[in-house]
Amino acid sequence: MNLPGFPIARPRRLRTSPALRRLVAETSLDISQLVLPLFARGGRKLRRPVDAMPGVFQLSPDEIVREASAAHALGVPAVLLFGIPDKKDARATGAYARNGIVQQTVRLLKKELPSLLVITDVCLCEYMSHGHCGLIHGGNGKVPGSGKILNDPTLKLLANTAASHAAAGADIVAPSDMMDGRVAAIRAALDREGFPDTPIMSYAAKFASAFYGPFREVAESAPSFGDRRSYQMDAANANEALREVALDIQEGADIVMVKPALAYLDIIQRVKAEFGLPTAAYAVSGEHAMIKAAAANGWIDERCVTLESLLAMRRAGADILITYAAVDAARWLKE
Ligand code: PBG
Repeated sequence: MNLPGFPIARPRRLRTSPALRRLVAETSLDISQLVLPLFARGGRKLRRPVDAMPGVFQLSPDEIVREASAAHALGVPAVLLFGIPDKKDARATGAYARNGIVQQTVRLLKKELPSLLVITDVCLCEYMSHGHCGLIHGGNGKVPGSGKILNDPTLKLLANTAASHAAAGADIVAPSDMMDGRVAAIRAALDREGFPDTPIMSYAAKFASAFYGPFREVAESAPSFGDRRSYQMDAANANEALREVALDIQEGADIVMVKPALAYLDIIQRVKAEFGLPTAAYAVSGEHAMIKAAAANGWIDERCVTLESLLAMRRAGADILITYAAVDAARWLKE
C-alpha cells in the first residue's frame, strides 16, 4: 500500500486500551462458530480416555448426550459425530446399518437436544477391517496389484451411509473419505431418499497428514497397511486444493472444509477468497495434541495459544471452526 503524504503514522494510537483494540478488531471469535467432535461407541456409561488426546474420550450414546448437552449449554451450536463400531468388516457394514452406532446416537441426540446441530462424519475407515476409507481390491497390499482402493464401487456405500445418517435425523452430513465423485453420489442419494434439505459439508481439501495420528487412536481407524496418500491430498499442492473444492461445489457441497487447519491457512484463505462459500477449518487431533502437550509441560499458555490459533483460522477466512477445544474455548470466550 502506497500512502504518499500520510501524516506521521502512529498505529499505536489504536492500541492504547482494551476497548479501543476491540473496537478496531478486524476479526472476531464467537462461540457460534464452534463445532465439537465427539466419538460414539456402544455401551452405557462408557467414558474411555485416549492416551494421545487428553480430554477426548470414546463415549457411549448416553455419555455423548451428557457431553453435547454441556457444550450446548455453553452456546456451542454443533457437534461432529464419529462412530466406533463393535465389529469391522471388509464392506464397512456398520457405517450404513440402520441401527449403527452413529445412527443410534443421532436419534438419541435429536430427541434429547433438538436444538443442537448434529453433523455426522461420513467415512468408512472406522468400519473397515483394513482401516481404509474405501473398498479395496484383493489382498492386503503385499501382493503386487492388490490393495488398490476402488473409487467408484465405494461411492454407493458412502451414499448409503449419508442417507442412513439423514434418516436418523442428522442435520448435516460431512463426507471425509476423499473419493472422487462422492459429493454427487451422496447428493443424489439424499434427494432420492427424501432428504433434499440436508446440507453436505464436504471435507473438500483434505490433506494426507501426519497431524491425524492421535485421531486414528481414538477412532481406531489407522490403516492396517499402506497409507492414505492415493486418496488424500499431497501437502505440496495448493492449486489442486482449489480444484478439489471447485469439484465438490459443482457436485453440490453446501459448506466446504479445509483440513488440517493451522498448517494450511493459505488454503483456507484461497478457498474463501475464490468461492465465498461457508468455509470450515478443522483443527485436527495432532494440532490439539501439540498444544495440550506443550501446555502440560508449562511451555505455552494453553488458553492464549488455543484462542490465538482459532483466531488465525478466522483471519484466514474460516467461518466454522471444528475443534476438540470447543468447550474450553466457549468457556474462555464467556469469561
Ligand atoms: C476419517 C477422518 C479422519 C479425520 C477425520 N475424519 C482420519 C483420517 O483421514 O485418517 C481426522 C481428524 C483428526 O485428526 O482430528 N477419514
